[in-house]
Amino acid sequence: MTLIYGVDVGGSGIKGAPVDLAAGVLAKKRTRIPTPQPSTPGAVLDVIEELLAEDEWAGPLGVAIPAVVVGGVARTAANIDDSWIDTDVAAELSQRRGREVVVLNDADAAGLAEMRYGAGRAADGVVIVLTFGTGVGSGMFVDGALVPNTELGHMEFRGEAAELSTAARLVEDDEMSLKRWAKRVNRYLLLIHRVFSPQRIIMGGGISKQFEQFATWLDVGCEIVPAELRNQAGIVGAAVAASLGKDRP
Ligand code: BGC
Repeated sequence: MTLIYGVDVGGSGIKGAPVDLAAGVLAKKRTRIPTPQPSTPGAVLDVIEELLAEDEWAGPLGVAIPAVVVGGVARTAANIDDSWIDTDVAAELSQRRGREVVVLNDADAAGLAEMRYGAGRAADGVVIVLTFGTGVGSGMFVDGALVPNTELGHMEFRGEAAELSTAARLVEDDEMSLKRWAKRVNRYLLLIHRVFSPQRIIMGGGISKQFEQFATWLDVGCEIVPAELRNQAGIVGAAVAASLGKDRP
């Protein structure tokens, strides 16, 4: 069994587990530690080391973070501390761990997991995976190959970054009903469809559990399906990226 440890850094929690890459499942229950505040790189990397110590892990590691990541370097910081910008996260982690660590965008990671084990299995053409949570992340695939760092959550929609009015957080914090949110998301998906003409849109994030309840308000002219790996996708995808040994699989 090939096991690689995956870490998913989120706005509220940092989660990790060893991943069984043959099956695409967590080999043991995930460990979660609240995201430190402020969520500076140093503080977050300390928490990652805590996770690894708790799970007694010294093997290969992949880490998904909520930022544009180019060559292991974070280039944006929308829902984490600004000090991430221009941090060479891969180099810092590799130095701490004494081995190469792969770092990539969290939605790209979730997308890799869905494409290999979930709702995107064997899907050709353009497939877009969207993760709705604190922000909105995206992973775009062309015939199974990732186009990294697409950041569709930051497309302009209603005069501002789309994630400000379409994040699942708005429903979770009771600022918006599920129906109002879904109707608004439908308009956002129409925009995405107009620009990219995907064959399939995969909706991820915790809210995808309620997909059957809100699917009735979605109609954009392509297939829309719920993600299958739910809140494990980031962890599994981080491990997949590490198995490929690079941040642009
Ligand atoms: C960030 C993305 C991230 C998404 C989901 C956005 O605010 O810009 O990089 O993928 O949140 O966490």
